[in-house]
Amino acid sequence: MIITQSSPMLCDNLSRTAEGELTFAGQPLCALAAQYGTPLYLYDEARIRERCRTYLGAVRDTFGARGRVLYASKAASFRRLYEIMKEEGMGIDVVSCGEIYTAARADFALENAYFHSNNKTDADIAYAMEHGVGYFVVDNEEELYAIERIAGERDLRQKILLRLTPGIDPHTYAAVATGKVDSKFGSAIETGQAEAITDIALSLPHVDLRGYHCHVGSQVFDTDVYLRTSEVMLTFIAHIASTRGYLADELDIGGGWGVRYTEEQPTIDIARGIAEVGAHMKALAASLGIPLPIIAFEPGRSIVADAGLTLYTVGTVKRIPGYKTYVSVDGGMTDNPRFALYGSPYTILPVLGGEVPSDAERCSVVGRCCESGDILQENVPLPPMHRGDLLACLTTGAYHYSMASNYNRIPRPPVVMLKDGTSYLAVRRETPEDLTALEV
Ligand code: LLP
Repeated sequence: MIITQSSPMLCDNLSRTAEGELTFAGQPLCALAAQYGTPLYLYDEARIRERCRTYLGAVRDTFGARGRVLYASKAASFRRLYEIMKEEGMGIDVVSCGEIYTAARADFALENAYFHSNNKTDADIAYAMEHGVGYFVVDNEEELYAIERIAGERDLRQKILLRLTPGIDPHTYAAVATGKVDSKFGSAIETGQAEAITDIALSLPHVDLRGYHCHVGSQVFDTDVYLRTSEVMLTFIAHIASTRGYLADELDIGGGWGVRYTEEQPTIDIARGIAEVGAHMKALAASLGIPLPIIAFEPGRSIVADAGLTLYTVGTVKRIPGYKTYVSVDGGMTDNPRFALYGSPYTILPVLGGEVPSDAERCSVVGRCCESGDILQENVPLPPMHRGDLLACLTTGAYHYSMASNYNRIPRPPVVMLKDGTSYLAVRRETPEDLTALEV
């Protein structure tokens, strides 16, 4: 269910003071820039917790004790975030030893972690088993045999889900569409590979097949995508039950619900979406004559995206008469590669000066890397900008810090959490010394 909101600002945790200064999570941004420097990643802790509670509440209302919410920690992974997930009672999805290690550092109970990835190395598998990761989401046959072997060596029986490709096109950008048959992820239902891997899993003594997983894509706005995915997956579960006598007890339908980067995009009512998907699943399961499995959701972006904002300081402003104006900031594709990678839209606002007039000049906001593709956004309406002015890029909580790089040897910005009118550092700013710390 999609609801288009017409709030005065893009997100309701943004506002302006009477003097026209932008605030985030109730805190004026100039003081934060002065205290921590720029570029700066800010997170609204209350917003993260609110999103977790929305998911958990909706899943509990719809599925009772047979519902789960796993935070897809690839969206943003640092120790403090796993502490928050632990406190909120969320499970997590992890995709690497790095994410497992970070969650372990937060004392996150890893039996509530689901380990993804299309290419888990033997070392990854052993590491995850050593750390007691609860579930492995098995991508392919080769990996299944590797898990069986390594679990056998340790004399344990590893709980697994099989990742299937349901053949659903989620109508999002290509880099994040994963549900189509031609995908590097999972075993396709259409080709018979899903049945084949099920048979193998059922025959192996050291894996405990609990059910299935799928994830069709990211930044999805249409609930119908999840309704169709549920149909394919539950029909497959019923087929396996009738042909093999194996009844899956868990179905994880992945993450993907979209968020609002610009005014043109809708806001999704997650609770209504979950209720709608749940009602559809219950009716389907009844008509297929199977009990409804435990249902898991795996949101990443919709948990943290609008809890994040990035602050930059303007440097060079270059007007090319008859062409355009480039406004350069002290960050760029190193802290936000998403425009360079996907052409993703963003809302960028000046921190001071109040609302931007509708006839303001359209500028290209660019980063500081030696690369013309280092663009944060094109056609941004801005008042005349000057060296030292502050700009805020909105909705940067997901896939920003986690995708940041040190290209051009640029240190990564710090992560600062905003809570109850105060702020604290979750990740400090990198230094030039950090950049050479690994060199022997
Ligand atoms: N589960 C699985 C197995 C996934 O692969 C993903 C995202 C999620 C859950 C969470 O999806 P979300 O709720 O965040 O949409 N770097 C890209 C996004 C890549 C998404 C990869 N998988 C971006 O910046 O848009």
